Amino acid sequence: MARVLTADTVAEIEKLFPRYPTRLAVLGPAIHLTQRQLGHVSDDAALELAALLGTPVTRVKEMVSFYTMYYDRPVGRHVVRICRNLACQSRGADQVIAKAESVLGVHCGQTTADGRVTLEHEECLAACGTGPALWCDDNLVENLNEDKLEKLLAGLQ
Ligand code: FES
Repeated sequence: MARVLTADTVAEIEKLFPRYPTRLAVLGPAIHLTQRQLGHVSDDAALELAALLGTPVTRVKEMVSFYTMYYDRPVGRHVVRICRNLACQSRGADQVIAKAESVLGVHCGQTTADGRVTLEHEECLAACGTGPALWCDDNLVENLNEDKLEKLLAGLQ
């Protein structure tokens, strides 16, 4: 196993241990910290986290594959997730998604060639009354329309 986590990331994870009942309970925050350093949870990172938390690597991989905000593959510097569920769809999400694909030149699930943006579908961002909704860089954007989306995408460097 190649070590990929920095000493700082490992120290931040270990600092959390006293605040949780078990090391396994630190898994979610540990994945967040790993992604902050690496951008995703690689196979080597998953093995390292498993060893650090005293759990089988399958536990780490289950968590990463279950939650849409965790990535097991490299993603763009920005990840744009647009909700396509019913409430947002009824308020124009399909047009917003089509606009995003057109502006970025990629389909949902893909990353721009320059590594700037990964575009994803989302199933609900808990903003159903103010959709279409989008999540990007830890920010929720509501009441999306094509103009608002275009300005947001232009600002992502
Ligand atoms: S349906 Fe889009 S935020 Fe809930």
